[in-house]
Amino acid sequence: MEIINRLESEVRGYVRSFPKVFTHAKANRMTTEDGAEYLDFFSGAGALNYGHNDEVMKKALVDYIASDGVTHGLDMATEAKQHFLKTFEDVIMKPRGMDYKIQFPGPTGTNAVEAALKVARKAKGRDRVLFFTNAYHGMTLGALAVTGNASKRGGAGVNMPGAIPQPYSGYFGEGRDTADDLEMLLNNSSSGLEKPAAIILETVQGEGGINVADFDWLKKIEKLCRDHDMLLIVDDIQAGVGRTGPFFSFEPAGISPDIITVSKSLSGYGLPLAITMIKPEYDVWAPGEHNGTFRGNNHAFVTASAALEHYWRDDKLEKAVLRASDRIKERLGGIISKTGFKAEVRGRGFFIGIDCEQAELADEIAAECFKHHLILETAGADDNVIKVMPPLISPDADIEKGLDTLETAIHTVLEQHGLLTNAA
Ligand SMILES: Cc1ncc(COP(=O)(O)O)c(C=O)c1O
Repeated sequence: MEIINRLESEVRGYVRSFPKVFTHAKANRMTTEDGAEYLDFFSGAGALNYGHNDEVMKKALVDYIASDGVTHGLDMATEAKQHFLKTFEDVIMKPRGMDYKIQFPGPTGTNAVEAALKVARKAKGRDRVLFFTNAYHGMTLGALAVTGNASKRGGAGVNMPGAIPQPYSGYFGEGRDTADDLEMLLNNSSSGLEKPAAIILETVQGEGGINVADFDWLKKIEKLCRDHDMLLIVDDIQAGVGRTGPFFSFEPAGISPDIITVSKSLSGYGLPLAITMIKPEYDVWAPGEHNGTFRGNNHAFVTASAALEHYWRDDKLEKAVLRASDRIKERLGGIISKTGFKAEVRGRGFFIGIDCEQAELADEIAAECFKHHLILETAGADDNVIKVMPPLISPDADIEKGLDTLETAIHTVLEQHGLLTNAA
């Protein structure tokens, strides 16, 4: 750890919350250099939905490497890319009746968002993009411009024009529909709101604190996009690939985004892979107009194809996630009422948050969990939300074990603060 603390930039983050050297990882467990095992309720911030080092994907990758399959090829045609596109079309798009062109914008999520914003602006010939409070879309300048968090924005060091913030679903609490507010602004020629090229949103805001958009709100936003000639971009980088249950988080809302960004768990194995899905009529790129050396990671294509084949040919995974999700939320609700903890549980699938009224308790509880070998992180404007994000393949018994640890941690921290009111 000494070399990391001495040499790695001050910008380092997760290593401060989880200050151990990890050497191995399997399924929903990580192991440190001294042999201690940690249960994973973090899933690489959503990049490891199928857990660590899945056997099926590992075999496909090892076979590919052993056969000297192409590793790097910019955006040249490779067999691995062909196979991925065919599998994605057969397993994901066709069964859902989806028609999109696939862009490989660069290795990581923020690259997919940059490409989405650029192509939307080009397609509509307008420069503004509307985004929502607490949104998180990445750290490069275009994506950062549509990200809410003040500290992240502060890191830019320049003005970030071309972005308009608006209140997200439920921002003002119950009884006020912020889609109606937006409709009024768009319909009023004196509102000062210049018509954007697109609206970008997450259906469940991950880094913003597990804020869940109402399905009716999503439908209204989609209708506003249609009525006002704006494109709808759904950023499914964290909420997608089964995190909320279905492959795409927006499926149960019945909306059809014009552009979709997918990354994180797309490769299945934790390898960098991002795509920007664009409805064909908006794929207005000129050849090479958005370029990059690391577009199309062939190793990630191999593991992604294996993951799609293995987990998405049927709905077993989706059903299992939804079933276990109810159980987790019920258990968390029980913990809160038992301890008198002032907090709210919310989320979809295995994308669940505990929003702590006293923000500082969230980090203390997460640290207490880590002390007892459970890895989970916090999110939200003030790091006030404990994120419960186990790998989707976690056995029920391990979910219960993790929840036991979380319950004890909540109990301990509340007791330390003299807040344990209803102790059972
Ligand atoms: C919704 C969303 N969009 C974009 C990103 C950026 O992805 P990356 O960190 O891979 O650049 C993230 C990362 O957390 C995210 O949650």
